[in-house]
Amino acid sequence: MAASISRREFAQGAAALALTSLIPRGLLQGSAATQRVVIRTDAEIGVIQPELHGQFAEHLGSCVYGGLWVGKNSPIPNINGYRKQAIEYLRDLGIPVLRWPGGCFADDYHWRDGVGPAERRPKRVNIHWGGYVEDNSFGTHEFIGLCRLIGAQPYLAGNVGSGSPSELRDWIEYCNLPSGSTLSDERAANGSPDPFAVKYWGVGNESWGCGGDMRPEEYAAEFRRFAVYLRTFGGTKPFLIASGPNGNDANWSHGLLGNLNGHMPDGFAMHFYSGGADYPTRFTAAHLDDQLASFARIEQAVIQQRALLDGFRGGNRVALLLDEWGVWDNLDREEQNRFGRLWQQSTMRSAVAAGLGLNLFNRNADKLSMCNIAQMVNVLQSLLLTDGPRGEHCIRTTTYHAYSLFKGHRSKTAIRAESENSSSLGVSVSASKGEGQVFASFVNPRTDADFQVACTLKGVSLAGASGQILHDADWNACNTFEDPDHVVPRPLDVHADGAGIHFDLPRMSVATISLRVS
Ligand code: AHR
Repeated sequence: MAASISRREFAQGAAALALTSLIPRGLLQGSAATQRVVIRTDAEIGVIQPELHGQFAEHLGSCVYGGLWVGKNSPIPNINGYRKQAIEYLRDLGIPVLRWPGGCFADDYHWRDGVGPAERRPKRVNIHWGGYVEDNSFGTHEFIGLCRLIGAQPYLAGNVGSGSPSELRDWIEYCNLPSGSTLSDERAANGSPDPFAVKYWGVGNESWGCGGDMRPEEYAAEFRRFAVYLRTFGGTKPFLIASGPNGNDANWSHGLLGNLNGHMPDGFAMHFYSGGADYPTRFTAAHLDDQLASFARIEQAVIQQRALLDGFRGGNRVALLLDEWGVWDNLDREEQNRFGRLWQQSTMRSAVAAGLGLNLFNRNADKLSMCNIAQMVNVLQSLLLTDGPRGEHCIRTTTYHAYSLFKGHRSKTAIRAESENSSSLGVSVSASKGEGQVFASFVNPRTDADFQVACTLKGVSLAGASGQILHDADWNACNTFEDPDHVVPRPLDVHADGAGIHFDLPRMSVATISLRVS
């Protein structure tokens, strides 16, 4: 564990950056306080798994049907039924892993309904998300096809609540066995001779709630029973992910882990949403502060749940996942009627929330293995929005752009970065290093304060720096179908000298700076 940065180190950094006062105030509205940050390249945290930028797509509203999947005969431009514009945007961003089909939907989903000729697939009622009828035209093969198109690893969430061990066991055999069994041959006959080699398997979702309303010891018994039958087929060892706590619920974690009789899962999936009191585009500053303050609680939950896991025998080998996260605002009924259930606009506030999340994941790269934001298209804090299931428009949200600013951190080694104000609404920072490079991300979550950042770099010499910033002083600003590029990343002026960098970090902004070092 690295020592924290002393006041003296901050003072030295500040002296080296006395030039700060001479910088023209391009982005700042008025007088700006200086925030000092120190990055220590010698203080390594761990590798930032690309899966910390994972995604989640549920059969909910217009996420799958109409969002990602429009069908081959749609007038909307498509690639074999997948919405073309969405595929292009997702490919550009790079999606490391995609979880499907739920969410709550997973524990009422029977995979056999979604394989075989589309015209013979049964129509089923989606009981969790509005009681509408789905035709199952998007099933396992269509999901794997989507993952291949966008380069994502598939993560299948299995049904425990209303399913059986044999149903989930068969799904694994169907997906992963290359050939020779009735199930693998059925997959081949359905158009996929090559196995899907799915590694990630969820054993239920929110089993404390919509996934069966179980007590932790009841779910522990279910998990043990299921795990006996969920085996390696065709060389792909399934990575079994247990349903973890709601937020930082230690009772659930203790009750579950203490009743597994030593049969630890490979992964432990916590969910933590950041609720919001206002409609997405009508947030007050006070409600924004309340929502963004939740990210300090998420970080605390990650640290505490990791410690709790480590306290159980074999627990230190269990990966901690933040399987669902994101802002969940007070939603507009009329918008949901037009565009789909849980359709939510993403604003500058949402981008700041994404930046706070992605920063805390970097800082806890030694504790987290995967984080999946809810959800990829049209639902909650999405990357993309369409104007409903039949709408032709598909736009990138502010959240998409926040993710694009963090792409450079993937697979790099997280290093310690500390800001002098570590309160929940102070400047948030994280950093990582690769060959000859350091990336540093900064978030200013304040609605009422601009900063100049003076950042020193310990342990390397600086050769140059460039940056990008996503910023709008109006926290309700967003990209719309009429103005799709209203909030987009722009170049950031970064002034570098031998000891560090300084730059403007205005209110409501997310910035990433790429440093060339030797
Ligand atoms: O993401 C929406 C819902 O939130 C998911 O279906 C469920 O897992 C969670 O409660």
